[in-house]
Amino acid sequence: MDCEALVTRWLAKAFNTVLPGCNGGKVVPSKDSRFGDWQCNDAMGLAKRAGKNPREVAQAVIDACPLPELIEKAEVAGPGFINITLSKRAIAASVEALSQDEHLGIPQSGKNEKVVIDYSSPNVAKPMHIGHIRSTVIGNAIDRILRALGYTVIADNHLGDWGTQFGILIMGYRHFLTDDERANLTVELLEKVYVQSYNKTKESEEWLDTCRQELVKLQAGDEENLAIWKRFIEISLKEFGRIYGRLDVSFDLYRGESYYQPMLGPTVDLLKEKGLATQSEGAWIVDMKEEGLEVAIVRKRDGGFNYTTTDIATVRSRTEEFDPARIIYVTDERQQLHFRQFFRICDKLGFCTKTQLQHVWFGLMRLPDATFSTRQGNVIKLETLLDEAAARARAIVDESHPDWSEAEKAALAEAIGIGAIKYADLSHDPTTMIVFTWERALALDGNSGPYLQYANARLNSLLAKYRDQVGKDPMNNAIALTSDTEKALALWLLQYPNAVQRAGDLCKPSVLADYLYQLCQLYSTFYQSSPVLKEGTEPEVRDSRIRLCAAVSTVLRAGLKLLGIPTPERL
Ligand code: ARG
Repeated sequence: MDCEALVTRWLAKAFNTVLPGCNGGKVVPSKDSRFGDWQCNDAMGLAKRAGKNPREVAQAVIDACPLPELIEKAEVAGPGFINITLSKRAIAASVEALSQDEHLGIPQSGKNEKVVIDYSSPNVAKPMHIGHIRSTVIGNAIDRILRALGYTVIADNHLGDWGTQFGILIMGYRHFLTDDERANLTVELLEKVYVQSYNKTKESEEWLDTCRQELVKLQAGDEENLAIWKRFIEISLKEFGRIYGRLDVSFDLYRGESYYQPMLGPTVDLLKEKGLATQSEGAWIVDMKEEGLEVAIVRKRDGGFNYTTTDIATVRSRTEEFDPARIIYVTDERQQLHFRQFFRICDKLGFCTKTQLQHVWFGLMRLPDATFSTRQGNVIKLETLLDEAAARARAIVDESHPDWSEAEKAALAEAIGIGAIKYADLSHDPTTMIVFTWERALALDGNSGPYLQYANARLNSLLAKYRDQVGKDPMNNAIALTSDTEKALALWLLQYPNAVQRAGDLCKPSVLADYLYQLCQLYSTFYQSSPVLKEGTEPEVRDSRIRLCAAVSTVLRAGLKLLGIPTPERL
């Protein structure tokens, strides 16, 4: 039983009777519950187009077909809104069905369409810093949401594992590390010697020259340099893997830039063949000034290729291998021009006839206070941020569960800390800049990760208590809506599939985060006014209410999972 589908079908048929061929019937939740549960706003626009009176059209629509049983009342309001009040029985049955459905009502609109998502994609030999958190967290949430919508997702970590920095890095590795450090290599050490070696290129022509030669040797496949480079990657992946593990993020592919190296020459050849690349001062460029885009260099004067060339080759490789309907790139806003440029080039090359390219960009995350500044400068390592989140959450856990074991306390603190950071990111529209504060991220009573985790844990314990005391599985009960707060909560539950669909369509996990926050608020209003297990509650009322709680719990847990937020059993 899907109320929305039934109401939409009734409306569509009625609209079609009144204005044949028109496409009306969409419903949205009512702005004001006094006027109904849902409203349809289509009569206004459609009537205008047909030169008719909107209110008359709206009334004719209502009168066109018999009211389906699930609608208690339908009436015209204002300039031509159709306000619909659903029967409580229909809403209850819909909630029961939704919470038992394997997809929780989420339309499988992806139809197994293939989507590649390129996200996180840090550069090797550098620590992941807080700039990478949004790509990783937002990208992963989009990944999960699209899978839930029935897309076949290929998550690809396009590591920055190739580039001119490796000559400088190899020299730093050879000359500024002790044997011991080389044996116990870390990304931090690599970063340190990179800076040392880089600084030396500024002082010494000779050093700079040797760095260049080492790079050329690497690119030509020199065995020793290749082995060192592989070690950089191995060490970096180990460190990134630790962070991905903590963030519960995983990829289907780890194809770094190096994977596409053999394809770069042929890519530039293709551009030349199609007359898209021209020579300018010794370099090969694609001139798109006429289209208002800047010139893109695809082969440098020294013969080297760059970021744009690699990305073009990547699209070609991905389309040939996977034939995806779409490739989504998740990076910060500063790369917008780059993506516009190479998308346009791919378009000209005919790579985009079957594959849509989409750049999902996000604003930067800023830290307002000095809490994060390290002695080395103001680049905060992601791992440091995660550690601090867990440490701060630990203080909360220590206070609430002094009797728990060390392992239990550590695990819970980690879940709260990671949840707080992820949610602080995901609850904002990706295109906005966020100013991160610990107070807001860890607040137990605001729009925060811990607040949602707390609601989830409380629901768990309420359900457990019911099973214990009453000895029944709440999911087997029926819902009978009696109060307005119950009804409001039930109606909101029915919006879950729409929220997931919209979050996926817009590539904005924040839509789902907003939905879940609102769900918790409605739940809390309901819970305060509607005793469930309190003594004196009628058994039928109790059984119905706990069933509603079970539905909230199911949806909340699933929704948090789609955002990648951990859901500890107890808090
Ligand atoms: N490695 C790049 C960076 O850290 C991000 C790569 C994004 N993906 C891509 N295909 N360009 O800035």
